[in-house]
Formats: sequence, C-alpha cells, structure tokens
Amino acid sequence: MPEQWRNFLDDLPRELPRPRDLGSPSAAEISAKVRPKALMEQDNPAERWVPIPQPVLEWYRRIGRPTPLYRARLLEKRLGTGARVYLKREDVLPTGSFKLNTAIAQAYYAAVEGRTTLVSETGAGQWGMSVALAASMFGLDAEIFMVKCSLDQKPYRRHYMELLGAQVRPSPSDFTAFGRGVLDRRPDHPGSLGTAISDAIEYTLGKDSAAYISGSGVPHVYLHQTLLGLEVQAQLEGLYGEAVGEAGRGDHLVACSGGGSNLCGLIGPYLSARAGGADLRFLAAESTAAPRLTAGRYTYGRADLAGYTPQVLGYSMGADFVPPPVHTAGLRNHHSSAVVSLLRNEGVLDAVAIEERKALEAGRLLLQTEGILVAPESTHALAAAIDVVAEADAQGLEPVVVVLASGSGHLDLQSYSEVLRRP
Ligand SMILES: Cc1ncc(COP(=O)(O)O)c(C=O)c1O
Repeated sequence: MPEQWRNFLDDLPRELPRPRDLGSPSAAEISAKVRPKALMEQDNPAERWVPIPQPVLEWYRRIGRPTPLYRARLLEKRLGTGARVYLKREDVLPTGSFKLNTAIAQAYYAAVEGRTTLVSETGAGQWGMSVALAASMFGLDAEIFMVKCSLDQKPYRRHYMELLGAQVRPSPSDFTAFGRGVLDRRPDHPGSLGTAISDAIEYTLGKDSAAYISGSGVPHVYLHQTLLGLEVQAQLEGLYGEAVGEAGRGDHLVACSGGGSNLCGLIGPYLSARAGGADLRFLAAESTAAPRLTAGRYTYGRADLAGYTPQVLGYSMGADFVPPPVHTAGLRNHHSSAVVSLLRNEGVLDAVAIEERKALEAGRLLLQTEGILVAPESTHALAAAIDVVAEADAQGLEPVVVVLASGSGHLDLQSYSEVLRRP
C-alpha cells in the first residue's frame, strides 16, 4: 500500500495557466470560506510526495486497499488478442467506486478542522455514497445535492446515502436562490453537475461549520487518487508477490473522463516516466453526450453555473450546454479541468468519445466473459480499450493495456437494461 500520494504537478509539460477569478467575492475567497484549508494547500503542495495521514491509511486498509489488478484472460480470449488486458478493480470498494479514496481523505481533513457537516454535489450518486460513508467514518453529517435526472434514474444510491443518515436533495434545488432561479426559467430542468455544484456551494456559504468538498476536477482530488497509478505501478512490478511479470510496463493506460479524477489518478504517477521517454499511451474515454476533449473548444470556463468557481482554461462545451440525460451521469460535465485539458492540449493525452450503447455492450461482454459488472462510466474506458486492442492486433503488436474499472455496475442494472433493450 502506498503511504504517500504523488504530487505530479511538476511533471506536467508546462505550468498550469492561472485561473481567471474576477468575481466579487472572488472564487478564491469563496473557496477559502467553504473548503478545508489543508485541501486548498494540497492544490499546490510544496513536496513531490505527500504523506497520507495515519487515520486515512487505516481506513484505506479497512476498505480493502490495495484493490486487485486483475488480468482479464477470458476477455482476451474472447477478443482473440495477443494484448494483455488488466483491470484495476476499484469496483470492489464498499461504495462501489474509486471515489471513496478522496472522500475519506477529505472527510478526515474537514473533521480535523472542526467542521461538522460535509456538503457536496453528486451526479450518478457514486460520489454521494462515498461522501456519506466517509462522513460517517469521521462522525460528520452529510448533505448532498444530486442531479435531478440521476436521482430519478438511480433511486438506490439515494437510499444508501439516507441509510447512512445523509440528506439528499435534487438539483436544481429550491433550497438555494440559484436553484430557484433555474427552476423558474425551466421547471423541468434535468439538472447537471453544473447546477449541483452551484447549489452545494451556495448552500455551504450559508451554513456555519459546514465544509464543501469536490469529487473531482481539482488538483487535491487528483493528488489523493494517485493511489491508483501508484498501486498499478507496484502491481505491474509484481511487488505484491503476484509476479505478473510486467515490470516497468504499462503501454496503454485507459480511463473514462468526467471531472478527470480516475484518469489523473491513474496516469499522474506515470507522467515523469513518459516525459523521460517511456513508451506509454494515455487514453481518456469520454461520452458522446458531452464530448469536450474531442469536440469542445479550448477556452476559459468554469465547473459550476452560478460563478462560484474560478474560470479555468479547459476544453468546453460552453456554459449553456445542458447534456442529454444519458445514464452515464458521471461523464456529463460541460467543462474539462485545467489539468486534463493541458495534458490534452500538449498532446500527452489522447481522447475518444464513446457512444453509450457501444460502452454498455462492452460492459455486457465483460460480464459475460469475466463475470465482472462495471459502472456505465467504466464501460466507456473498456470500450475504448477494446478498440485499442483491435488496433494493436491489426498491427501485430502485443501491448499491456491497463483499464481502470472505476466502479461497480450493480446499481446501474436498469441503465444497462434500458439502453441495451433499445432496438
Ligand atoms: C464510477 C465512476 N467512474 C468515473 C466517474 C468519472 O469521474 P472522474 O472523471 O472524476 O474520474 C464517475 C463520476 O461520477 C464515477 O462515478
């Protein structure tokens, strides 16, 4: 188990462009009020290696870290490929996704600072479940704004959060002035991550001793998620006695990308090796419902719609873009983060947009071959990896392909069924 997170900001091909922060109060002032201070500092740590606090490490061990790196031999056989396909199995975590890694860290820092409530947004509900569980680990309350169309599609995630005592509200929400404004203009607004972030920050501003925390998109979350790449590196080197025999290799690293945290967590620890000449390809799989990295514009924009977050240079669908209510809620962002966008803009990161049906068909194939059911978000990475494998086979190559299985699909069976039953 890694005992330090890896700060990879110095390994980026150039410095991150400064955010634009013109509001009054500024986004920096708002962040300073709503976010725990330690997390703000972790947006730009002084060291390359950041020690993981002992209570966080203890919870990481209890939830089953390190998660397995699983060779999908039966899938390889079905595909008839010479490539070696590995799944990094975050789907086995208790909340069913990798989001728990940063939720535990953020809840810990909020509790140490004396905050009593965690407030956040959630799309599909995986992040919300992780916030609810992490809050209970450290004796905190949790209040979650969930994108309305996802709340309708995925009621079970709400039940899980509520079992842990969390309050769950649909976004756009009539608890905030922002949400009421959206609902006045469009009462049937399906909600988006942009509306939910706005609701959550405005709500936190009005509540003493609450902390607003993010599930993705910001550097401190990427820092915590570097556990993923660090574990994969160690596992490929056989350090856990599994002797996978792939020392130093990881030819293709593939992850889905919404806010970019599972992707950056996987590739972040590999950036310096690639910059040093290692033959590595990083691939982001996004949704055709919000194809920012493949069809967006590189421009300033922000993650929320109310203007509480700074404008960062990133690939964007535009602030007015309302993504269609696809089942893959975790990939419905309208603006890509500064880090992911810089990697894309510098040619370090490749990207493909995958259509939902194609993704879920890949997910079905994994279930039928390996008996593993991954989240709709993760199926986008899987479908992209299957294309990589086909291309490699056509060229007579036998690469190692690591796919991040970012979450479990057990609470998404209805989505699988609705999409795959369509003619
Ligand atoms: C299972 C799962 N995978 C991937 C994502 C995408 O998030 P990110 O791009 O931050 O990794 C989400 C977001 O909700 C998710 O729940």
